Amino acid sequence: MTVAVIGGSGFHRWEQFVHEETLGVMTPYASAAVPVLAGKLGSHEIVFVPRHGPDHTLPPHRVNYRANIRALHELGVNAVLAIATVGGISPGATPGVLMIPDQILDYTYGRAHTFFDGEDGAVGHADMSQPYTEALRGRLIETAQKLDIAVIEQGTYAATQGPRFETPAEIKRLEQDGADVVGMTGMPEAALARELRLAYAAIAVVVNPAAGKVDGGISVRAVQASLSSGRVRVGELLGGVIPAIHHEEFAVPPPITP
Ligand code: HPA
Repeated sequence: MTVAVIGGSGFHRWEQFVHEETLGVMTPYASAAVPVLAGKLGSHEIVFVPRHGPDHTLPPHRVNYRANIRALHELGVNAVLAIATVGGISPGATPGVLMIPDQILDYTYGRAHTFFDGEDGAVGHADMSQPYTEALRGRLIETAQKLDIAVIEQGTYAATQGPRFETPAEIKRLEQDGADVVGMTGMPEAALARELRLAYAAIAVVVNPAAGKVDGGISVRAVQASLSSGRVRVGELLGGVIPAIHHEEFAVPPPITP
């Protein structure tokens, strides 16, 4: 089992993925097992974690990111493809667009955000110079080109705390900070994957213009429409990339220990 998909809002069920069994993986980070869905994409065995729980009951700040990532590590996963719905900030990031981000800004707080919290005496510092695994991002971009799926090949993902959406003033600040898209779950997930040396890349699906980027508020109906068109292309992209990376071992640098 080498490839995992973590699905977000609107992606907790997934057409191309044939669910065969649910594995309950115990971790030190939760009293309950993490439900990991094992199944097939075509002939390839993969695992799928619905980030917000199988019934979509966990808001972004209550997702047990450590348990999810540790469970994948326990299963021997080497590469994680994370699906994230986002609001668009920069001009090209319009609803329906897919982006493969290459940088992250973290505005979250109060989340269990590291495996190195000193409890077992281990201290390590993950190198986040390239917060997403470049080789895995490259595979996503190559596959998108091959399948003629338009993607923005780089951009900065800003992770906010949620569950509320941002104010227009907050979006203006994120924009000044260099953010292209904004979502609520990208961190600490990416950093935790790096700490456990899992290759990690994200497919961000723009589902709304970020607050203040269009007149009026964020429309639920428009979000759903962008999500359903985005879902189809994300499914195709995963369908193309997973066979391409299934036997690939991605090198991820170890954390720096003092
Ligand atoms: N802000 C934060 N997270 C999001 C948004 C947004 O506008 N859209 C989808 N996830």
